[in-house]
Amino acid sequence: MTTPINRNFVADALKNSGFFGKLMFYDCIESTNDLAKTMALEGAENGTVVIAETQTKGRGRMGRRWMSPPYSSLLFSLLLRPDIHIGKVFTLTMLLALSTVEAVETQTNVKAMIKWPNDIYVKERKLAGILTEFSVTGKRFKYVILGIGINVNWKPEEDTGMHMLYPATSLMKETGQRVSRERLLVNILSAYEAHYMDISRNGPARAKQLWNKRSMLTGKNISVSVSDNKVTNGTATGIDENGALLVSDTKGQIHTILNGDVHVRNMTGS
Ligand code: BTN
Repeated sequence: MTTPINRNFVADALKNSGFFGKLMFYDCIESTNDLAKTMALEGAENGTVVIAETQTKGRGRMGRRWMSPPYSSLLFSLLLRPDIHIGKVFTLTMLLALSTVEAVETQTNVKAMIKWPNDIYVKERKLAGILTEFSVTGKRFKYVILGIGINVNWKPEEDTGMHMLYPATSLMKETGQRVSRERLLVNILSAYEAHYMDISRNGPARAKQLWNKRSMLTGKNISVSVSDNKVTNGTATGIDENGALLVSDTKGQIHTILNGDVHVRNMTGS
């Protein structure tokens, strides 16, 4: 059963938002990130949201595909034009991850956690992923696009025939029920707006505390591929105010890692 997102509900719930002014809904497009990028280049405003029921070329990080059956996931991209230093771009990703885990818990009671830098997990299974893309001129952003895909009303690995690249879950799988995608969208965007305003006014201290509370890597023995030939091993100690992962190596030296792929190792170090 496929029920489209109730667009009027979303528009009405966000009508007083001073942030998300333009909501663009589509039935089927290649990728919300790609369309948001085209819109950004054509001058679309800060706070534009591109939402799709289906993507034919959904993309993940590292050139991976992002798969989801029609009318079952929450797939959207935020177009932002933030006036922040480029070193702070991953705070925007962390805020989306934080807003998503908060909205998921408020709406469904499912306890989701942030797996730095861009994943949301429920226990050992991936619920959602974020793809952050941006363009800069000098030291400022032309645009930042945060695209998120959340598995909602379908069961990865069970009834879809989709080939998943990793152990995956969904809100339907976790709750045993259909979950309102329009409510989830509104809850995430409202939380994002509130956190964004708080950071702009008061700095990142509070948000940093919150995303650290939700970080599933803290205390884990991990290995981070930072580039093709650079791997950092150690214990994750937290995420800093710029959204960077802090890793303490065997000598106690702290590495600050802005982006990379994380592998959680077991106690024997494998
Ligand atoms: C990842 O886990 O690698 C990130 C996945 C990001 C998927 C979302 S779905 C909406 C937006 N449009 C895309 O093409 N990708 C992102």
